[in-house]
Amino acid sequence: MKILVTGASGYVGASIFTNLSKYYDLIGTFQKTKLFEELLELDITNKKAVIQTFLTVRPELIIHAAAIPSRKVCEEYPKNALVVNFEGTKNVVVAANSINSRVIYVSTLGVKEDPPTQYGKTKLMGERYIRKVRAGYNILRLSMTFGYSPNFSNDRPFNRIIKTIQTGQPSSYDNTWKFAPTYLRDISTAIQMLIEKEIQSRILTVAIPELKSTFEIASDILRPFGRTVRPENNCKEKLDEIPEPNDIQLPISSYQTMIHAITSEIRHNHLA
Ligand SMILES: NC(=O)c1ccc[n+]([C@@H]2O[C@H](COP(=O)([O-])OP(=O)(O)OC[C@H]3O[C@@H](n4cnc5c(N)ncnc54)[C@H](OP(=O)(O)O)[C@@H]3O)[C@@H](O)[C@H]2O)c1
Repeated sequence: MKILVTGASGYVGASIFTNLSKYYDLIGTFQKTKLFEELLELDITNKKAVIQTFLTVRPELIIHAAAIPSRKVCEEYPKNALVVNFEGTKNVVVAANSINSRVIYVSTLGVKEDPPTQYGKTKLMGERYIRKVRAGYNILRLSMTFGYSPNFSNDRPFNRIIKTIQTGQPSSYDNTWKFAPTYLRDISTAIQMLIEKEIQSRILTVAIPELKSTFEIASDILRPFGRTVRPENNCKEKLDEIPEPNDIQLPISSYQTMIHAITSEIRHNHLA
């Protein structure tokens, strides 16, 4: 099966791109960061370019991971967030329909009934538009995500933990907000299951049903590498809810499995 991943240069997209390349024919796109030699340049806000790329590649499935994923950046540049996260997604849908391709939309648990942030708002608008994909769609909602990605250096939450290992500087992580984290590898495994079982039209949560703070997660990841972590109280939110279970069972790791796997990933990729 031919699959195109938008945002294959990003933290989540690069992981999906490399993991699924073992099983399918993968084509990935980047905008500014040519992480792998074979990636195609594509700005999803350029409708003509999106249609042209999809017409040339003709994937059966598009995994749409390109976005502005930072709440802070979306608040600072609300128009840009709207253009990339919503207009860009619209372009992906129109182009997917022009070649009758299915779409998997990488979304966020930050999408609530009435999201308070520009990030949540624009991702929710994207989710609503994805339903217009005629050949079939799925939406994967992620929580804050942890695990090794081939892009281990951009400014994403897990990559900040990797930086702590590499610099050896003691660092602080929030210990007030507890949430159900996502293990990065689980996203690829979930996508593979959706493909193999031909599952369509679902909104699915990829998150471990255990509530942890970033301080707890960073401490558990950094402990084997002898790094110290300080707790910090910088969130208004205290406790999130464990997300509702999906109506189909996804292969989700336990928290302990995730921590052990991440320790191995860090060692295996010589990041410590
Ligand atoms: N990481 C998390 O904890 C987390 C949690 C929940 C949901 N998510 C979701 O996961 C998805 C990916 O996030 P991420 O953490 O992987 O972020 P990331 O590392 O910043 O990756 C974003 C990707 O989008 C691409 N991109 C940005 N603007 C673009 C444009 N105009 N045209 C084409 N590509 C563009 C970037 O390309 P270049 O770098 O090449 O410019 C990059 O490949 C997002 O939809 C986000 O909402 C992530």
